[in-house]
Amino acid sequence: MKRIYTFLLTFLLTLAVTAQGLVVSDETRRIREDFQDRKFGIFLHWGIYSMLADGEWIMYGRRIDRDEYAKLAGGFCPSWFSAREWVELFKEAGAQYVTFTSRHHDGFSMWATKASPYNIVESTPYGRDVLKSLADACSEHGMKLHIYYSHMDWQRPDYPTGSTSGNLPHDDGTANWDSYYAFMNAQLTELLTEYGPIGAIWFDGMWDHKEKEFDWRLDDQYALIKRLQPKCLIGNNHHGAPIGLEDFQLFEQDLPGQNTAGFSGEAKVSQLPLETCMTMNNTWGYSITDKNYKSGDELIRRLVKAAGMNANFLLNIGPRPDGQLPDEAVERLRHIGAFMDANSSTIYDTRGGCVPPQDWGVTTQRGRTLFIHILNKEKDGKVVNEGLERKDGGALSLFLPLSGQSLSKVTLRSDGSALQFQREGDGYRIFLPKRPDSVDCILTATLSSGSDAQRTGE
Ligand code: GLC
Repeated sequence: MKRIYTFLLTFLLTLAVTAQGLVVSDETRRIREDFQDRKFGIFLHWGIYSMLADGEWIMYGRRIDRDEYAKLAGGFCPSWFSAREWVELFKEAGAQYVTFTSRHHDGFSMWATKASPYNIVESTPYGRDVLKSLADACSEHGMKLHIYYSHMDWQRPDYPTGSTSGNLPHDDGTANWDSYYAFMNAQLTELLTEYGPIGAIWFDGMWDHKEKEFDWRLDDQYALIKRLQPKCLIGNNHHGAPIGLEDFQLFEQDLPGQNTAGFSGEAKVSQLPLETCMTMNNTWGYSITDKNYKSGDELIRRLVKAAGMNANFLLNIGPRPDGQLPDEAVERLRHIGAFMDANSSTIYDTRGGCVPPQDWGVTTQRGRTLFIHILNKEKDGKVVNEGLERKDGGALSLFLPLSGQSLSKVTLRSDGSALQFQREGDGYRIFLPKRPDSVDCILTATLSSGSDAQRTGE
C-alpha cells in the first residue's frame, strides 16, 4: 500500500503541466525558467529555398511544381558552411539559444532522416548533416538547440492539403493522414534521439487546417516529445494561446499584446513563458533583394522591449545558399554583441519589471534590483514621451510610476554615478544628469520593499 502511495505521489510530482495550468512539476517550472532566463535566441531559416534567394515561401509564391522544385536539391552545396563559426558569432552577439528550421513548409529535411530520401544527406551533392554539425557546435559552446518543425508540407503526396497548401498545383488525391502523421512522428523521434538534448520543438503551419473537424492529434504527438525528452519544451506558432502540453507562447513579428503584423489577433497573452520572433529585414529565408534591414540600434530596442514585456527575443537570420550569413546580419549581430557585452546582466535572468512598459521604455527586474531602460527619449531636441520632462531647459527627469513601494538608490549604469530622486504622487521623479543619448540609457534602482517582477512560467 505504502509503495503504491509513494509511486502515485512521485508520478503526480513529475507530471508535466498542461497549458491550461493543471499541474506543474518543479522540474518543468525550472526548465521553463531556464528558457526565460536565456532571453535572446537566433532563428535560422535555411533550406534549398535559400538558393532561389527570395524567401522560404517561394515554392508557394510561384506555384512551383513539386518535382521541379525538388531538383533544386541537386545543386545545394553550401561550401562555406561552418556551424562553429555561426555559433561563435551568435555567442558574441549574446544569444543563448538557436532555433533551426529542420524542415520547413517545402518539406525538405536538413538532416539525415531515414523517413524520406528528400534530405540534405541523400539528395544534395553536399551530403552532410548540417543539423548534426550545428548540434555539435552548440554543445561545444553551451548554446541550447531548439528545432523548428513544419506541420504543413508542400511536397509529400500523403499530406492532406488545406487552405494554404491547397493552392499549390499538385493536390492529386493521395492524401493519407495516418501515413503523414506516422512520418512526422518518425522524424520527431529521430530529432529527439540523435541530436543530443533539444531545448524546444517549435511547430509551425498548423493554420493550414483550421477546420474544427481536422484533428492534428497534437496530444499524442506532444506526449511522444515529452516521453523522448522530458526536458524538451514545446511551442507552436498557431497564433493562438497555448494549448495542451505547450510550454510557451509564440508571437510572430510582434511583441506580446501587439498585433501590427496581423498574426496575433486572437491570442491572449498567457501566463506561460513568451517568445517573440522577428526578422531583421522583411524576410525569414534568404532574400537577395530585401535590404529593408532594421538598424542595429532598433534591434537592440526590440530585444530590450521584449525583455521588459517578459518575453524572449528570437531574432531571425536567413543564411545564404553558400553557407555564409548575410553581411548585414553579421554587422548587426556584432552591434548587438557590443551592447550585450556591457549590459546583458540587465537582460539575462530578469523578468519584466514591476513597472509596466511606459512611453519612455521598459523595466526589467531581478530580485529587488530594477533596471530602468530609457529607450525613447527625444525627437528633434524635444521631449516627446509622457514621463520624461525637461524643466526650464535644465536636466531631464523621468517619472517612474511606483506606488506602494520605495526606492532606496538609483545609479546610472554607464558610470555608476548616484542619481537624485524624490517622491512625486504615485511614484518617483528621477533626475538624469545629462542628456541620455545612448540607445538604451539604463538606470539601476534598488527597491527597498519586495515588489514582484512580472511572473510567468507556471
Ligand atoms: C510563418 C511562416 C514561416 C516562418 C514563420 C516564422 O508562420 O509561414 O515561413 O517560418 O512564420 O515565424
